[in-house]
Amino acid sequence: MKFFIDTANIHEIKEAHELGILDGVTTNPSLMAKENITGYDAIRQHYIDICNIVDGDVSAEVIATDFAGMVKEGEELASLHQNIVVKVPMIKDGVKAIRYFTDHGIRTNCTLIFSPGQALLAAKAGATYVSPFLGRLDDISSDSLRLIDDIRIIYDNYGYDTQILAASIRHPMHIIECAKLGADVATCPLKPILQLLDHPLTDNGLEKFLADYAKGNK
Ligand code: E4P
Repeated sequence: MKFFIDTANIHEIKEAHELGILDGVTTNPSLMAKENITGYDAIRQHYIDICNIVDGDVSAEVIATDFAGMVKEGEELASLHQNIVVKVPMIKDGVKAIRYFTDHGIRTNCTLIFSPGQALLAAKAGATYVSPFLGRLDDISSDSLRLIDDIRIIYDNYGYDTQILAASIRHPMHIIECAKLGADVATCPLKPILQLLDHPLTDNGLEKFLADYAKGNK
């Protein structure tokens, strides 16, 4: 399973990259705003900066919600760097835009996926990735893991190449369950990625090893 980091924070991106496990980055307008990245030029420069750190796919989201606007913005974003993947919302014009981008060799990430039907449409339009949002479904008492399972079954039934990019990850068990269900990618904040490291028996075991070494090597 590929690991993407879901942030626009350069320090967190560098930390995950230095861990040696990072395959890509996803951003969205809220994550850019959180880092105070505003304005046409600053936003585009930030995408380039991210692409210069991570050698992997970097999702850059369009703001336009009409077909012509999404095509114009997506083509501009895609021209910034070869690793840019244009992130398009799951709306009617978004599906048309994904088909356009697919036909013109531009890779896409269809975002805000909350149902298997939406994931099926995105795959039929040729999306490179679909982003089902786990945490936001759990927040409304829906079974987010069932959604990942359903999409996996549908894509495998028909051999769709679209990759399942599990998003809105809130904790390490989301990552583990997605890996078990065969999600292609998990995009996570830095915290749940680092939480995968944790186990009290690892800490206790290491402490004991070091103490025993110290006893015999005074
Ligand atoms: C996906 O690409 C989104 O950026 C993200 O995962 C949304 O997560 P949230 O529900 O924590 O905002």
